[in-house]
Amino acid sequence: LLPRTMSMVCLSDFEAYAKKYLPKIAWDYFAAGADDCSTRDENILAYKRIRFRPHMLRDVSVMDIRTKILGSEISFPVGIAPTGFHQLAWPDGEKSTARGTLLTYSTCSLEEISEAAPGGLRWFQLYIHRNRAASQQLVQRAEALGFQALILTADLPYTGKRRDDVRNGFRLPPHMKVKNLEGYGLPPNSLDPSVTWNDIYWLRSLTRLPIIIKGILTREDAELAVKHGVQGIIVSNHGGRQLDEGPATIDALVEVVEAVRGRVEVYVDGGIRKGSDVLKALALGAKCVFIGRPALWGLAYKGEEGLQEVLRILQDEFRLSMALAGEYFVCNGCYRCFCMQACKIRSVMDR
Ligand SMILES: Cc1cc2nc3c(=O)[nH]c(=O)nc-3n(C[C@H](O)[C@H](O)[C@H](O)COP(=O)(O)O)c2cc1C
Repeated sequence: LLPRTMSMVCLSDFEAYAKKYLPKIAWDYFAAGADDCSTRDENILAYKRIRFRPHMLRDVSVMDIRTKILGSEISFPVGIAPTGFHQLAWPDGEKSTARGTLLTYSTCSLEEISEAAPGGLRWFQLYIHRNRAASQQLVQRAEALGFQALILTADLPYTGKRRDDVRNGFRLPPHMKVKNLEGYGLPPNSLDPSVTWNDIYWLRSLTRLPIIIKGILTREDAELAVKHGVQGIIVSNHGGRQLDEGPATIDALVEVVEAVRGRVEVYVDGGIRKGSDVLKALALGAKCVFIGRPALWGLAYKGEEGLQEVLRILQDEFRLSMALAGEYFVCNGCYRCFCMQACKIRSVMDR
């Protein structure tokens, strides 16, 4: 048993714990960014450059931080981003990640996950494989099991060059398997790099689930996403693990939100480490944010319980920054949504 006597006050405490106690190869895999890790680090630095314009004396005695994503209510605007191979952090793997989004490269099967988390809001993250029949079956399995949306990750035609993984010869340990792909005879490098926007129509023909596209960073692609009929966009650079030297996601969010003009929901992930980061993302137009690595640190700390602790701390911090900035509820999408109502989140920042 590992010592868990550290008192956990903020998400960085979980990071320090994970770094200290995870096997080096697993820590390196979670922490990795592509190439020089410039974009990975920029995701975090960009939040620090943004400043609030707080408002005082606005009665923050009663706060409501709930919101809705694709019509489903969530207790506060944070979800869990799909991150591969949770069993590297905790033996139960994705079964512990009962809330948020899940993925193809999971070390638990879809069936195991939905059994472990029957009530949760679950979106299924998909990569498209060269073997289209396998992708089709995964989509249909996810739909049959009650997943509520599909996330198509668009930024991984090939895996980015993560130097430490190359140095460590990172591979999934033999006792862990990519269970969703069992039986299809697919090697993990079977992703189809020829995927284009037209494949959104193909995906649409397979399922009635809403489709969310993950990995959009420009207004041009945001326009294309709306044109191809997706229901949501996740502004993401895969935590800086794919193309290095692209923009920080919080910087890209602004142009995507402007291009989309409220036609579909826009979310963001990458570099969220504090409650005030969540507030900044919302004030710049995100409906909800997702955390990737911090969820893994929580799992590494104490499995499901550790993850809940990460979420609770982030929720408390978010509520507090809202109050201190003079906000008392999460406006349901009217920031820059052109509905002509006054946005309730006014603490937009000067840079
Ligand atoms: C270890 C790890 C594995 C990941 N695996 C996937 C994946 O399989 N599919 C995917 O769409 N994104 C994946 N991501 C990216 C996350 O969904 C998310 O975009 C990113 O982690 C957000 O940045 P953050 O870690 O700074 O919060 C992964 C990220 C990490 C750290």
